[in-house]
Amino acid sequence: MRRPIVAGNWKMHGSRATVSDLLAGIQEGMAVIRNVEVIVCPPFVYLDQAASLLSETPIALGGQNLCQVPGQGAYTGEISGDMLRDLGCGFVIVGHSERRNIYGESDDLVAAKAIVAHQAGLIPVFCVGELLEERESGETEKVVGRQLDALLETDEGLAAMQHSVIAYEPVWAIGTGKTATPEQAQEVHAFIRQRLAQASRDLAEKTRILYGGSVKPGNAAELFGMADIDGGLIGGASLKAADFLAICRAADS
Ligand code: 13P
Repeated sequence: MRRPIVAGNWKMHGSRATVSDLLAGIQEGMAVIRNVEVIVCPPFVYLDQAASLLSETPIALGGQNLCQVPGQGAYTGEISGDMLRDLGCGFVIVGHSERRNIYGESDDLVAAKAIVAHQAGLIPVFCVGELLEERESGETEKVVGRQLDALLETDEGLAAMQHSVIAYEPVWAIGTGKTATPEQAQEVHAFIRQRLAQASRDLAEKTRILYGGSVKPGNAAELFGMADIDGGLIGGASLKAADFLAICRAADS
């Protein structure tokens, strides 16, 4: 049985004051959540503050990105996996579509980041997803398959995938209010699991595949009810405690 995950990707939002308020609000509603792994991913500069506020809670912490180089070095503006571990992170998002599309991160760079994250002791939340024009030209599986293969095709990558969470986020559904229908999402999740099964049946069985893209309290239960959807990666709705908690409850089984 795969334990569901609900992860909040706060993106570039927040201030010291709102981080405190939001985390206090989420903590208040956690008592009724039994069987969901809840993760928040604040901007780097608020991780330390969030780690102190969450230290006595079951809520886990994640980074939104990391450098593809381990340890320390002359990489201005970058944050390493070791630094994220040092601040108390257990997870890190890699290859979010905003990193791929705004900052030009390639499949190979994203795979390198997932490997370094794993080697630093973090669980990568490995994001995949197609653009609208790719979906419209029938290329969804080709694109998602290529993004997955970048990690699956090396020994180090496969080792990282053994300890990763995957997030399927169709780019056309992110921040647009346009959610994939549960059937559309399930179809791609099943494809992802099948691709993992080509590497190992056990990997396919155990890997949690999250859906992301305009998940809201009103559509979460239906999405999470699909066979291959094991939770969600939540953007906008993770910035409101009540909405985020409602999504966490929808994932609780
Ligand atoms: P929204 O939930 O705002 O559509 O964002 C999804 C996302 O990109 C999470 O990583």
